[in-house]
Amino acid sequence: MSTERTATLSVDGKTVEFPVMVGTHGQDVIDIRTLGGKTGLFTYDSGFLSTASCKSKITFIDGDKGELLYRGYPIEQLADKCNFLEVAYLLKNGELPNAEQKVNFETTIKQHTMLHDQMTKFYSGFRRDAHPMAVMVGVVGALSAFYHDAMDFSDAEHRSISINRLIAKLPTIVAMAYKYNKGEPFMYPRNDLDYTANFMHMMFGTPCERYEPNPVLVRALDVIFTLHADHEQNASTSTVRLAGSSGANPFACISAGIACLWGPAHGGANEACLQMLEEIGDVSRVGEYIKRAKDKNDSFKLMGFGHRVYKNFDPRAKLMGTVCAEVLGELGLENDRLFKLAKELEKIALEDEYFVEKKLYPNVDFYSGIVQKALGIPTSMFTCIFALARTVGWITQWEEMITDPEYKIGRPRQLYIGAARRDVPELAQRQ
Ligand code: CMC
Repeated sequence: MSTERTATLSVDGKTVEFPVMVGTHGQDVIDIRTLGGKTGLFTYDSGFLSTASCKSKITFIDGDKGELLYRGYPIEQLADKCNFLEVAYLLKNGELPNAEQKVNFETTIKQHTMLHDQMTKFYSGFRRDAHPMAVMVGVVGALSAFYHDAMDFSDAEHRSISINRLIAKLPTIVAMAYKYNKGEPFMYPRNDLDYTANFMHMMFGTPCERYEPNPVLVRALDVIFTLHADHEQNASTSTVRLAGSSGANPFACISAGIACLWGPAHGGANEACLQMLEEIGDVSRVGEYIKRAKDKNDSFKLMGFGHRVYKNFDPRAKLMGTVCAEVLGELGLENDRLFKLAKELEKIALEDEYFVEKKLYPNVDFYSGIVQKALGIPTSMFTCIFALARTVGWITQWEEMITDPEYKIGRPRQLYIGAARRDVPELAQRQ
């Protein structure tokens, strides 16, 4: 990493220089780690609008070009040529697996798909109508109480076992959250099926009949997993990194990531988007909702639109639109009311001056809800599917952080704007 360029800052007549760090792609960054020491000042960047919180080799996004790369590979090629487990291997190890490595990885993951039997009892502590993301936060966090035999994180082998466990067990945990909510028996994993087909079996199968996954639908869900696998330093990933920076248990850190993902501005947007489409109900009401989205005094936003980084288009949304059309075609739902409504909403919003000017485009969540609904996944489970896939990215980022020789506990500073120092008055003198 070259540091030939410098940035100069002038404060109170004093000039200080900072090195500029250069990455492979994307914006260069000013290394301000010595700013406090040199000037006695900190920077203010609430919401991280201009701050790189780490160095990373995992994922790159070019928001202007609408480009997303995992370990250098474009998302379009990965979605086309690889399955989700190959993508998981790539994220975890930095390179795509060869044929032998692919088989070995699949076999390893299959060895970890079951949950500790006592964990099944853990579910019954939740109300049946609990939101499945609430169950996920609890159960994934509870993994830390069940799998503590490989917890020396300075040991690469221990880290690898924990990562494999997370990749393998998340589908089981998500499917069990669904079954618990539905009041159906939990389904054991079937290791004759591949990763995504097995997940569909655990979701939709029952002990009464053998479930035969539809290969077109399995492939569609597998692509959805790939599209959600990582997205560099977004809110939930940064949460995982910050939690992990204290040396905390990785299962607990993933649980923190799930909690963050749940919010409607982040992973909860797919659920919120579908609810919004249901609320709009008919193409004739699109104009009314577009008007509300533009009204400064109305808190309503078009869910599934806008992104902090993508300012041209979200490549995941393009791929998701294609997957959506394929799934609806396979199921004979081309005339699906919500799909037509979504298409119309997208068309109108893309032509509207407000959305054009603010560079608001459909994001990955815009079509993912429609696809998932068509696959038979209930709305409340959408964000769990996102969490399942993103776990691969989160844990890869966690490992990158704790193995970084420069790693330090995350500790942001603040601009204090509260009461100035004052003395505590006697009780009788308080207002
Ligand atoms: N509908 C209407 N107006 C919007 C929207 C929207 N969906 N998104 C942004 N704006 C407006 C916003 O009001 C602001 O206007 P102004 O400049 O007049 O104050 C301007 O566009 C910039 O938006 P921002 O909220 O400052 O941008 P941000 O980078 O902080 O937020 C976002 C990005 C994704 C949180 C936001 O666009 C949003 O809330 N979108 C809807 C929720 C959504 O779809 N989230 C999923 C994101 S992709 C998947 C994921 O990351 O999990």
